[in-house]
Amino acid sequence: MTDKTAELKTEGGDYQYPVLPGSVGPDVIDIRKLYGQTGKFTYDPGFTSTASCQSAITYIDGDKGVLLHRGYPIDQLAEHSTFMEVAYLLLHGDLPKKDELEDFSKTITYHTMVHEQIVHFFRGFRRDAHPMSVMCGVVGALSAFYHDSTDITDPTQRLVASHRMIAKMPTIAAMAYKYSIGQPFLYPQNDLSYTGNFLRMTFGVPAETYEVNPVIERAMDRIFILHADHEQNASTSTVRLAGSSGANPFACIAAGIACLWGPAHGGANEAALNMLREIGDAKNVKSYVDRAKDKNDPFRLMGFGHRVYKNYDPRAKVMQQTAEEVLKELNISDPVLDVARELEQIALSDEYFIEKKLYPNVDFYSGIILNAIGFPTEMFTALFALARTTGWVAQWNEMISDPEQKIGRPRQLYVGATQRDYVPVGER
Ligand code: SDX
Repeated sequence: MTDKTAELKTEGGDYQYPVLPGSVGPDVIDIRKLYGQTGKFTYDPGFTSTASCQSAITYIDGDKGVLLHRGYPIDQLAEHSTFMEVAYLLLHGDLPKKDELEDFSKTITYHTMVHEQIVHFFRGFRRDAHPMSVMCGVVGALSAFYHDSTDITDPTQRLVASHRMIAKMPTIAAMAYKYSIGQPFLYPQNDLSYTGNFLRMTFGVPAETYEVNPVIERAMDRIFILHADHEQNASTSTVRLAGSSGANPFACIAAGIACLWGPAHGGANEAALNMLREIGDAKNVKSYVDRAKDKNDPFRLMGFGHRVYKNYDPRAKVMQQTAEEVLKELNISDPVLDVARELEQIALSDEYFIEKKLYPNVDFYSGIILNAIGFPTEMFTALFALARTTGWVAQWNEMISDPEQKIGRPRQLYVGATQRDYVPVGER
C-alpha cells in the first residue's frame, strides 16, 4: 500500500484518496470511495485517464515507445522468441523452460481441431461474408460444444478453455478464408508448428503437399507476437467487461473479436492498406496528408496515431523490417511500400503530426506484409484476432483470479429530460 494521498476539495468538504504505485509507470488515485463520500462521479469518456484494473501482463510507456510483456521488451521477443513461447509467457507469467514449452505446444497442438459439426456453421454464411463476421459467429458458438470448460470458477476448466481458444483460432480463421474462396477445409497437421499449421490450413489444398516456407513462417510468427497483447485496449477491455459478468470464455472472446473489428482499432490494418492503395502513388501523398489535417474532412491516416504511443509504436518498427524481409524473400516490389515510406516521411516531418504526436502504429505496415504473403485484405483483422486471442485469454484469466474483481458497471453524467408526466396521444 502507500501513505501518498491525493486531496480533493469540493463544496461539500475536502477528501483524501490513496495514491497507489505500480511497479513502473503512472501511479493511480484510488477513487473507489469517491461517490460514497462526495455523491459525485468522475467523468472520463474514452477512459483517457482511467485505470480499469491492476495487471501484471503488459506495460506500455507511450512517451518512450516501450512495450513489455511480463517485463520482456517486444523487440527482444520478436527477435528471439516464438509465438507459442510468448503465449505461454502471457498466460503463465514467465518464459517457459524447454520441457514446459514442449508440453504447452503439444497441448495447444492437440486442441487445434474443431468439432466436426462446426463445419456446418460455415454453410449458413454467404461466401462473401466478411471473415470477421464469421469469426464472431463461430467463436461465439464454441460454448455450445465445450460445456466441459465453461465453468469459470474452476481453474482447470479456465485453463482448458484458454488452450482451446488459442489452439482453435487459427483453424477457424483458415476455415473462414477457405470458405470465402470455395476451397475445402484442411484439417490441422500435428507435425507442423502453430504458425506453419495455420499457413498450411490457409494456403494448402488437398490436391498436393504444402511446403511451409520457413521465412514466411518466421515472419508470420513474428507478426503474431507483435499482435499478442497490448494492455487495456478497447477489445481487451471488452473481454474483461464481458467476463466480469461471469460469461463463458468463448462468449467473451467473441465480444473481443466484435470490438477489434472497428476501423479505429484492429480494423485499421485493412483500412490502412486500402488507403495506401487509394493513394496509389507517392506523388499523391501530400494531398492525402493535407486532407488528414483538415478539421472539416473526416479522413484520417489509417495506421497512424495511437491513444497511448505519443512516440513511435515499437511494433511498427519491427513490422517495417519484416515487410522489407518478406518482400525481398518473395521477390516482390510492391509500389504500395513506396507509398507507405513516402507517407511516413512526409507525415513525420509535418508540423501537424509532430504537434499531435502521430506516428505509424502496428497497423501501418502489417497489411503490406500480409498482402505479400497472399492474404486478402478482408482477412487482416481476422489474423489480428487470431494473435490477440492469446492476450485476451491471459487478461481474462487475470481478471477472474483478481480478488478485487467485480462486475464492471460504469455510471454516467445524465443530460436527458428531468421527470415529466405522461401525456395521452390525443393531447400532444
Ligand atoms: C490499434 O489501444 C491499443 O493499444 C490499440 C492497438 C492494440 O494493439 O490493441 O494498438 C491496436 O487499434 C492501433 C490504432 C489503429 N487505428 C488507426 O490507425 C486509426 C487511425 N487512428 C486514429 O483514429 C486515432 O489515432 C486513434 C483512434 C488510434 C487514437 O485516437 P485518440 O487517442 O482518441 O486520439 P484522438 O482521436 O482524440 O486524436 C487526437 C488528435 C485529434 O485532433 P484534435 O481533435 O486534437 O484537433 O489527433 C488527430 C485527431 O483528429 N488524429 C489524427 C489521426 N489520429 C488522431 N489525424 C489524422 N490522422 C490520424 N490517424
